[in-house]
Amino acid sequence: MAINLSNVCFHYPDRPKQRVLDIPSWTVSSGEQVFVHGDSGGGKSTLLNLLSGLLSPSEGQVTILGQRLDQMTRRQRDRFRANHIGYVFQQFNLLPYLNAIDNIRLASQFSARKKTISLHDDIKKLLMDLNLAEKDWQIPARKLSIGQQQRVAIARAMINKPQLLIADEPTSSLDQSNRDAFMALLMSMINENDITLLFVSHDMSLANYFSRIEALVDINCVKEAD
Ligand SMILES: Nc1ncnc2c1ncn2[C@@H]1O[C@H](COP(=O)(O)OP(=O)(O)O)[C@@H](O)[C@H]1O
Ligand SMILES: [Mg+2]
Repeated sequence: MAINLSNVCFHYPDRPKQRVLDIPSWTVSSGEQVFVHGDSGGGKSTLLNLLSGLLSPSEGQVTILGQRLDQMTRRQRDRFRANHIGYVFQQFNLLPYLNAIDNIRLASQFSARKKTISLHDDIKKLLMDLNLAEKDWQIPARKLSIGQQQRVAIARAMINKPQLLIADEPTSSLDQSNRDAFMALLMSMINENDITLLFVSHDMSLANYFSRIEALVDINCVKEAD
């Protein structure tokens, strides 16, 4: 099992009366590719932050790849995330002044992979697999095109060989052709490497890339009016 949530409730500490999530039970099996859609403000990013251990639940059990995140300290969760989970963000969040190689290397900083002798070769192989031309590897990320930045973002999410990849509306700032290219690249990397994928978006047109499609409102008992 990749994801197993049981009686999970979450509210932000500064808003104790406003529950964002109440999820009695939800699971994702290893190898599944799941699309969760929902309106803006519905709690998609909050859910992903609970699954990656950036946030801890107010109540309940969050089990990822067989490990109880809710019983870990923040430090243990950070280490777990670095070693097991890849993350692709909205707008990609590359460090603008670092080049592709250093952006990817930075993601391995907190993982066991950091000490791997082949790290530099692994980064190069990923960039080659993703068709980023070698002449663009040393250019600051802010000078890369959107299409190039999205390749670097995928490489960064993949460098620690995650079992679970989490994507938070990564296509929302892309035009249609970049969006299609991004999805094709992402799905081919996921399939080749046998990774579980959880992808959230408000954009239903992406659903056809996925074998399992869910609405957040069907998972989460907290409705807008709560
Ligand atoms: N850091 C935060 N502190 C307090 N409330 C937050 C914080 N982040 C998000 N929220 C609130 O939690 C709810 C869900 O937000 P979010 O998970 O970002 O939704 P989505 O990703 O679906 O747009 C919203 O009402 C939002 O205002
Ligand atoms: Mg969001």
